[in-house]
Amino acid sequence: MNVDYDRVRQAADAVRTKSGALPEVAVVLGSGLGDFAGTLGASVSLPYQSLPHWPESRVVGHAGRLVIGSMGPKRVAALAGRCHAYEGHDLKAVTFAVRVMGLLGVRTLILTNAAGGINTTFAEGALMVIDDHLNLTGNNPLVGENDERFGVRFPDMTEVYSKRLRAIADESARAQRLELRHGVYAALLGPSYETPAEIRYLRAIGAEAVGMSTAAEAIVAQHMGMEVLGISCISNMAAGVLPQPLRHDEVMETTRRVRTEFIGLLEAIIARL
Ligand code: HPA
Repeated sequence: MNVDYDRVRQAADAVRTKSGALPEVAVVLGSGLGDFAGTLGASVSLPYQSLPHWPESRVVGHAGRLVIGSMGPKRVAALAGRCHAYEGHDLKAVTFAVRVMGLLGVRTLILTNAAGGINTTFAEGALMVIDDHLNLTGNNPLVGENDERFGVRFPDMTEVYSKRLRAIADESARAQRLELRHGVYAALLGPSYETPAEIRYLRAIGAEAVGMSTAAEAIVAQHMGMEVLGISCISNMAAGVLPQPLRHDEVMETTRRVRTEFIGLLEAIIARL
């Protein structure tokens, strides 16, 4: 009974023992965006393998470490690397890190990812605040017995991505003279990229960007009452938008190119929390 809760608790206890002061804010870093972890001061770096029950990601561009350190007066946890359902992990594993952050007392969760741009006014390298998501993965991390210590059986999803945090992101982007787009993120299982027909379908149902992460983590964060901000780096235009095939290398190249802007934006947001 409640093996999941116990495992999350044990991992949280291990993090607490190894890292001292507890984080208030956590940032999950998407493909190629892991550099942010290196900007934290007085940090402790915990490889995922050193933490009990922590699932590992083997995707290129995902480092696999939890870094806890300071940014100004705030204690921040940076999760460089996440595991994805397309690797064969169930959604309990995919959302394990978010659960641990919740039990450590994190109240603000920033989820970042690389995503394909569906909105044709976007360009590669654009940054998009996630206003809402379409969970099209065919699964939900809350399936199974509900543990009330985490949250209620039927959590409300009216405002998964906090209006307040979205406004802070806009204000931070203005201060950095950075253009920030907004849109709906469609989460698919992957790992194959979409077909052009699937992208036309996603556009028709209201998606502006598409990716293979984030929605499950956002659902779990909402289940635990955390305030969530989502930011997508449009690493490529989605299939069929441009007359060229998609490559994971391109995703990595684009995220690398925008990392300075991206880190600047995250710093500006965290300073305003
Ligand atoms: N599709 C799905 N996931 C992605 C993409 C894409 O085009 N780019 C980065 N992650």
